[in-house]
Amino acid sequence: MQIREKEPADEAWISSVLDENWAANGAGIIIVHGESFDARTLPALIAGEKGGLAIYKIGPDRISAELITLDAVTPHQGIGGALIDALVARLRQQGIHLLRLATTNDNLDALRFYQRRGFRIVAVRPGAVDESRKIKPTIPALGEYGIPIRDEIDLELQIERRSQESGGAGV
Ligand SMILES: CC(C)(COP(=O)(O)OP(=O)(O)OC[C@H]1O[C@@H](n2cnc3c(N)ncnc32)[C@H](O)[C@@H]1OP(=O)(O)O)[C@@H](O)C(=O)NCCC(=O)NCCS
Repeated sequence: MQIREKEPADEAWISSVLDENWAANGAGIIIVHGESFDARTLPALIAGEKGGLAIYKIGPDRISAELITLDAVTPHQGIGGALIDALVARLRQQGIHLLRLATTNDNLDALRFYQRRGFRIVAVRPGAVDESRKIKPTIPALGEYGIPIRDEIDLELQIERRSQESGGAGV
């Protein structure tokens, strides 16, 4: 599956994904850890013919990154997995060791998906979404499987260096 960096021509499509899937309300606003981002301004990878989108942010430390959104237009076709693989490969090339993300307590499919791909749960923040909803009232009350969306769950993936990059010793 072809994965490419976003281009200016993708702007309208990215905004529509953010509106439909992330209640961004035309402003691209995503709230993670109580911090608001205009996700439209961040780097992003696109799978195939607009089949999926991964928006990410390189940390100020330049050794960690945060996955801000991940969407597969049609799930269970390998799109999300391909986007994660491509992002991790790019981050590794940039010397980034850690990929973080936050998901919500209702998103059982995402929790399965990420953990099967090596991510570990590192924190649970009860009530974090309730707090975000005060800033962004468009966040829905009910999520996947009719579960009330209340809490954020943080996951992390350690990005190991490839053996050839570490002089053959492996890390
Ligand atoms: C979470 C999400 C991004 C996963 O993307 P996806 O494209 O469905 O992921 P994949 O297809 O790579 O993998 C999902 C499952 O489909 C299976 N699958 C992949 N290709 C398949 C195929 N050709 N046929 C059948 N099953 C397949 C995989 O085995 C995988 O199962 P696993 O997670 O138990 O390993 C997607 O469900 C989504 O867009 N969710 C809504 C937005 C969201 O919640 N994003 C994450 C928030 S942080």
